[in-house]
Amino acid sequence: MWLVTAGPTREHLDEVRYLSNASSGRMGYAIARAAAGRGHRVVLVSGPVALAEPEGVLLRQVSSACEMLQAARVEIEGGRFEALIGAAAVCDFRPAQRLPGKPSKEQGARRLALVGNPDVVAELAGRAGFALGFALEDLGDLEAAEARARAKLERKGLDAMVLNGVEAIDAEQHRAWWLPRGGATELLGSLPKAALAGELVRRIEAALER
Ligand code: CTP
Repeated sequence: MWLVTAGPTREHLDEVRYLSNASSGRMGYAIARAAAGRGHRVVLVSGPVALAEPEGVLLRQVSSACEMLQAARVEIEGGRFEALIGAAAVCDFRPAQRLPGKPSKEQGARRLALVGNPDVVAELAGRAGFALGFALEDLGDLEAAEARARAKLERKGLDAMVLNGVEAIDAEQHRAWWLPRGGATELLGSLPKAALAGELVRRIEAALER
């Protein structure tokens, strides 16, 4: 079984307002589709996106980072997972308080206190045969970006990381690098998301066979 996280998360301030990010979810959905196409059983834990449900994939829809962790944990604890792929753009913080209803602006400006969210892939990486993460970095200084991605790879206990530029969040095609733990960095090229997804699935399969 393969577990893929995808999309943004929403961190509510009250019933109608939330913090989120610009992730479309397309990378995670492309990976889920590619893995299912290769005959793997896939669970896709997805934040709110405007994408069609991929065929042949078990979709678990969530909203916040805490819900994403909870849903992924339930899946991972209930089965044997070969691969964990963290393609979601999980919000790092959430409002300390979720207020009921829709407080009016008449109540005046207020300071927003934030608390840290759990790290979904870091919490679950140890439970899968192969864990892959995505690092979205400013590529102005490529060496520094690679170093940051490698530090995340170690910190989160992953087996490999895909390094993308921040422009990947809204692009159909973008450069990506493969950073395996203990191995040399490789430029995968400038690929459309579907082609990149296929390439990543093949690499994970190869690593699992070793
Ligand atoms: N990730 C996650 N849960 C979080 C934050 C990140 O599962 N709360 C995963 C993402 O799905 C991705 C990887 O961790 O696979 C790297 O995400 P990124 O946002 O680049 O890393 P952060 O740890 O959030 O680092 P920073 O925001 O400081 O760049």
